[in-house]
Amino acid sequence: MRAISAGYAQKKADICGIISVKERLVNNMLSVIFIVIGSIIMICNIIAYIRFIRTTMDVMMSGRRGELLWQRLGLLLLVFFFLGYLGVAFFGHPDYLTAGILFWGSIFVSCALLLMYHLVDSLKDRSLQITQTLISVIDARDSNLNGHSRNVQNLCMCLYRHLPSEMRDSINAVNFEYAALLHDVGKLGVPEKILNKEGKLDDEEWKIMRDHPRIAMDLLKPLPSFEDIKEWILYHHERIDGKGYYSVPGDRIPLAARLIAVCDTYSAITMKRSYKPARTHEEACGIIREVAGSQLDPNIAAVFLSIPKEELVACAPETVELSGRISQNKAQTGI
Ligand SMILES: [Fe+2]
Repeated sequence: MRAISAGYAQKKADICGIISVKERLVNNMLSVIFIVIGSIIMICNIIAYIRFIRTTMDVMMSGRRGELLWQRLGLLLLVFFFLGYLGVAFFGHPDYLTAGILFWGSIFVSCALLLMYHLVDSLKDRSLQITQTLISVIDARDSNLNGHSRNVQNLCMCLYRHLPSEMRDSINAVNFEYAALLHDVGKLGVPEKILNKEGKLDDEEWKIMRDHPRIAMDLLKPLPSFEDIKEWILYHHERIDGKGYYSVPGDRIPLAARLIAVCDTYSAITMKRSYKPARTHEEACGIIREVAGSQLDPNIAAVFLSIPKEELVACAPETVELSGRISQNKAQTGI
């Protein structure tokens, strides 16, 4: 009798043991799945963080070594956490609590990154809008410039979207947009009587006018965040044959400056000036075709000429007149 009850107890213990092992395996399996999902989310977080640093922080943090250090530390921390996830999943004894902490930790990091991205993006938009307003006011004091900078900005971003990927990857889009918008900011240092002169400028006036890229460099000097774009602005009147404002050889002109030069030329031709009427899109394309290889980079000119007319015409912005009224640049240029 005693032997039978001992055997029954042993059987019961075995069954419980099997259930407990099964439960442990299921628990472990679920924990590992949670940790693996958390690891995948962390990989996405790391990629998102790297893209976030590259695309959004360039203009805002450029030239600030302190902030760059914090960015790298943040990245290091994310990688460290990711390695921790893998370590626990493959070499540790994951339970529900550990898996839960790691999984929700990765979700928390995703939310924090989304919030950071949203904040920086809205800050970036706002700073671009402020710069656009300032540039519109600067342009408005010159009847020949009114709306030109915004037009060049829009044209440059349109051209940027049409560039081959290897060219596009070599230029930061945020920096490029600011450079296009600010390319003529140096005209602040040119007297209004020269800017608004009816007819052709004399030699002395031309000398002052040709100095506006260098004046732009001086104006932007106190802003370390614009460090990367100063050279692009300085060389936007250089020619591919080396006969530009500062006689810089074609191969030394930065790509971004060559892009701005093409858009600047198109905008100048299609806009009305005090000394000339606005020309049509077709006339502008004809002139760009003619000067490709001498004034303009022929490869970039070819990309520009391949852009559909509607896209280029749509780049004309609303302009602010000195009286404060808003007018359509399209109506002014007639394109
Ligand atoms: Fe210029």
